[in-house]
Amino acid sequence: MAEKIAEVVVVGAGPGGYVAAIRAAQLGKRVLVVERDQIGGICLNVGCIPSKALIAAGSLKERIERAGKLGLKIAGKVEVDVATLVGWKGSIVKQLTGGVSSLFKRHGIETIAGDAKLAGPGRLEVKGKDGTTVVQYGDAILATGSRPIEIPGFKFDEKDVWSSTGALAPSRVPKRLLVIGGGYIGLELGIFYSKVGSAVTVVEMLPTILPGTESDCALVVSKSLAKRGIAVRTNAKALGYEKKGGALVVTVEKDGQKEVFEVDQILSTVGRRPNSENLGLETVGIKPDAKGFIAVDAQRRTSAAHVYAIGDVAGQPMLAHKASREGLVAAAAIAGDKSAAFDPVGIPAVIFTDPEVASVGLTEPQAVEKGYTPVIGRFPFAASGRAMTRDETEGFVKVVADKKTDVVLGVHMVGPDVSELIAEAGLALEMGATVEDLASTIHAHPTLPEVVMEAAEAVHGMAVHIFQPKRA
Ligand code: NAI
Repeated sequence: MAEKIAEVVVVGAGPGGYVAAIRAAQLGKRVLVVERDQIGGICLNVGCIPSKALIAAGSLKERIERAGKLGLKIAGKVEVDVATLVGWKGSIVKQLTGGVSSLFKRHGIETIAGDAKLAGPGRLEVKGKDGTTVVQYGDAILATGSRPIEIPGFKFDEKDVWSSTGALAPSRVPKRLLVIGGGYIGLELGIFYSKVGSAVTVVEMLPTILPGTESDCALVVSKSLAKRGIAVRTNAKALGYEKKGGALVVTVEKDGQKEVFEVDQILSTVGRRPNSENLGLETVGIKPDAKGFIAVDAQRRTSAAHVYAIGDVAGQPMLAHKASREGLVAAAAIAGDKSAAFDPVGIPAVIFTDPEVASVGLTEPQAVEKGYTPVIGRFPFAASGRAMTRDETEGFVKVVADKKTDVVLGVHMVGPDVSELIAEAGLALEMGATVEDLASTIHAHPTLPEVVMEAAEAVHGMAVHIFQPKRA
């Protein structure tokens, strides 16, 4: 049995683990990373990055198809060459994961390929291809992430039934695609497939798509899905499917009635589950909660001494940037920084649908629940010169503020490039900015962020580019 000694061992090399490892090395620690699959984790290999590559390609195709309106004549149809598209996506993934590996090397971070398991305090066992390695560690950071939930009747075979992983490496564009789950992944990928030519149906168990998303924003996405011809069945639960001829016949229960859909491909995206099993947690006395999440304190310490947990395995929201931030905090805490804490005012969430949705902080109902008297300002992209020049005028920005103090409590947006615009709102929240701060910051003209400024002015009834009747 090989033996290794590490001051810090990080289990999992996704955006939580690799960031934690690099920061710990920057802070002078000898770091070892254990990864059973690929450096970069789900996000870089089969998640955020490859999906955004496909989504960008789909959006470009759609823009080209709309270009006639702008006086740009395109001869012929835009055709999708799936192999080239998938190859291009793969090259981006390779560049990024190669970048992480090279940063590891330059920081002197060692990696072992294999399955890691805690084996009592200070000891970790890694089962790899060439046998078991025992690691004696000073501190351990668990960054094992999550995996897609599989529902009965829809086992992922990545042929008939895709998980997001299969959907990111297609061999063809399916003619008819049924998406189970109208959440983040289902809608992002469903819209992509619709743009490249699939007839898409989305089946969502709950009464609305994007449950948990600010409701006015979700409504804009709903309307846009309808305009694109994407059929959405809400209150509908997928029960199972069978193969008939060359087709897949899916049975769905909607409002107590059975409905049947004949499709060529199924994509099941009904949520993710933390990877907390088979980690030897019991050997150090950690017991995950009923959903499999590991409880942590503000420094991301678990109940076991010298064992930290970050990212999806340490609780919602399951977002890469939350994991990365937690990684920085855990690394700093291990290096002795007592003030390091994961204590954000808001964690931005972005849904790369078309139009995109982005949110940070409290929604109006959440603000009421917390005892605030919220005031709202809303400004539409339809009144933005920049949005018009881009021919993208769908959506709005909504600012939620505290009536008493004028402090910004949350910002919610749907529309063009809101994935980028949300950064300003995140900064405003972290700085404890008031609506006045946002409104009186000079925003360059003509740009989309002016919509954030005008939404702030609208809180005070003072937006210049829309008419706001005088308030009593
Ligand atoms: P999700 O939780 O966003 O959506 C799953 C949806 O499936 C829910 O609306 C749920 O009601 C529905 N559902 C569950 N069981 C069903 C059934 N039997 N039949 C029909 N509908 C059913 O989960 P998703 O889309 O799989 O994403 C997982 C996580 O990954 C998200 O929580 C998100 O945090 C993260 N993610 C983040 C992205 C981003 O930041 N842009 C992109 C993709 C995923």
